[in-house]
Amino acid sequence: MSKEMVIVIDFGGQYNQLIARRVRECSVYCEVHPHTISIEKIKEMAPKGIILTGGPNSVYEEDSPRYSKELFELGIPVLGICYGSQLMAYMLGGKVDTAEIREYGKTEVNVDKNSILFEDVSENTICWMSHTDYIAEVPAGFKVSAVTPVCPTAAMEDPEKKLYATQFHPEVVHTVEGVKMLSNFVYKVCGCTGDWKMDSFVETTIKNLREKIGNGKVLCALSGGVDSSVAAVLLAKAVGKQLTCVFVDHGLLRKNEGDEVEAVFGPDGPYDLNFIRVNAKDRFYAKLAGVTEPEKKRKIIGEEFIRVFEEEAKKIGAVDFLVQGTIYPDVIESGLGKSAVIKSHHNVGGLPDYVDFKEIVEPLRLLFKDEVRKAGTELGIPDYLVNRQPFPGPGLGIRIIGEVTEEKVKIVQDADYIYREEIAKAGVDKGLGQYFAALTNMRSVGVMGDGRTYDYAIALRAVNTSDFMTAEAAQIPWEVLSIVASRIVNEVKGVNRVMYDCTGKPPATIEFE
Ligand code: XMP
Repeated sequence: MSKEMVIVIDFGGQYNQLIARRVRECSVYCEVHPHTISIEKIKEMAPKGIILTGGPNSVYEEDSPRYSKELFELGIPVLGICYGSQLMAYMLGGKVDTAEIREYGKTEVNVDKNSILFEDVSENTICWMSHTDYIAEVPAGFKVSAVTPVCPTAAMEDPEKKLYATQFHPEVVHTVEGVKMLSNFVYKVCGCTGDWKMDSFVETTIKNLREKIGNGKVLCALSGGVDSSVAAVLLAKAVGKQLTCVFVDHGLLRKNEGDEVEAVFGPDGPYDLNFIRVNAKDRFYAKLAGVTEPEKKRKIIGEEFIRVFEEEAKKIGAVDFLVQGTIYPDVIESGLGKSAVIKSHHNVGGLPDYVDFKEIVEPLRLLFKDEVRKAGTELGIPDYLVNRQPFPGPGLGIRIIGEVTEEKVKIVQDADYIYREEIAKAGVDKGLGQYFAALTNMRSVGVMGDGRTYDYAIALRAVNTSDFMTAEAAQIPWEVLSIVASRIVNEVKGVNRVMYDCTGKPPATIEFE
């Protein structure tokens, strides 16, 4: 696997993960660490480069996060971004001041073409700014390498010591040539060669899994989602029949989904593993009867999922390893300890820790989602599974407002199927973050043929998003929506109205629950 590493030291900026992703897009392995990481640990890791993130503080405030000056004396190249750039200036004897007006948004920056950081970057380039403090005086030995009309130090550097800093955010898409700048930093300043590739990741992971597991038995909770599917295939390739996948069909999956998962992972599929499909819909519907509150439904589904899984695990008996589909954002978020709970997410990842097993295996814990997809493609998993849009663990249970019944599940499955079919047919699915149908709990009067109807309204949702933390309602062409609406009303019994959700996140959420 990769031997080169760049580390990101997080000072509370909102783009910490994005920096790591951009560096990895340059084929250089990158990890995020909190600013409390010790200098000894950094020395031990021997990274090829260090990037300091932005953050909400002002460096001259007493309790703002700092880092020992030694960091800049290790001989390892450092790139400070926003707060990170001010910290570098402040710690090395420069001066940081507060501006009267905040500089925010896309800004034209004039860069020094002699700087390695700006090699092959246009002299005037659009960058993303978001700051009130600024570097008023650069430290001794540094020179200014970029300016804007209002910011005297949009970038600075001391090339001899390999210290670089940008006031703007190269990691954000609005910085038009940001990836080029990061690539210049990791290749031309840090001297990386770019050894982070998914084919070698897959190969090395399979080898390591074989060594770790030996003759042991492995259990995997398979949901059919991207992460658990890729984890399962990695393990199947590593240990074959020593792996058992338990797929709990809770009766809240999309139309045909259970059969699709079985076709890939079951006995007729290409992988040589033990596959158990548990058809548990009656249990789930019984537990959900009469329950209308969304959080309560989530809790019930999560809990019941664990019970079913546990029962199956017990039947299999003494299992040595349990597979978890943890991915890198989960590691960063739990490790760096911040995130507000809007709703309790239930992943198959949230499995009990008291089933009879010795150890947890998390083969994807170093990967971002797009890397998981690339690994999946490398492993030969079909495109429709690898490029699947996210689907919540509690499934259609939270896309049905009010009580969940078998009849309502059927309605939302059929409507959603039509919606997805027409979106794909019209070719407008590219670029959509997520799109699905939900069943409102509203019934209203309609007229069909010569008769009165009193039926449900289906809500269609489609969003554009890059990180699922914020989203905009997508502009689906009207002609496509009209076809979907008339097909749903004509083909799905119990529906006489179709609506389109135009709300973004915030204030709404992506799911319609
Ligand atoms: P919201 O509705 O919170 O959704 O804006 C953000 C993203 O998370 C997905 N989601 C879930 N994923 N388990 C999951 O694995 C869950 O319980 C869950 N709830 C929401 C949602 O589909 C969207 O992609």
